[in-house]
Amino acid sequence: MTRLEFLKSMGFTGSALMALLTSCVHEEDTVVNALSLSGTTTTTPSTTTTGTSNSTVTSGTTTNGTDLISIKNRLLTIDLTSSAASALKTVGGYITQNGIVVAQSTAGVYVAATQTCSHEPKKAIMFNKTEYYCTQHGARFDLTGKGKNSFGSKGITVYKTATDGKTLVVYS
Ligand code: FES
Repeated sequence: MTRLEFLKSMGFTGSALMALLTSCVHEEDTVVNALSLSGTTTTTPSTTTTGTSNSTVTSGTTTNGTDLISIKNRLLTIDLTSSAASALKTVGGYITQNGIVVAQSTAGVYVAATQTCSHEPKKAIMFNKTEYYCTQHGARFDLTGKGKNSFGSKGITVYKTATDGKTLVVYS
């Protein structure tokens, strides 16, 4: 028995029947949307990682095969085992060094950006959980350097990172 036959057998006719059929369609649409959203959410984390060229830990070389020694255009070389870099052992932790903000954004993934804001040239950028933030006027930037509000509309420069688990290299 189809839904239409079932509803007719229940005594629904005319506009009442149409209203019920329409509401049924909406319910089904909602379910389909929910399933679709679920699929999108699943793919989001892998998309999120594309903004950075960070590498995670192995011995000697990074997981993408980059030999740290071969990296040119180095801006910083950080000993992750040193006490000066202890903040980088925690997800969300960050340090500032030589005008660069370096943070562990997710487990084993490091990001880096200039400490100088693009709103005014103040060295006031810090890392705030999932984004860069300027303490002067509140400019916000995503991990790719793109501005997230009007003060941050010009964006900031971000840098590449690579690590073998002991050493973290920030480069351009
Ligand atoms: S100097 Fe950074 S928001 Fe104004």
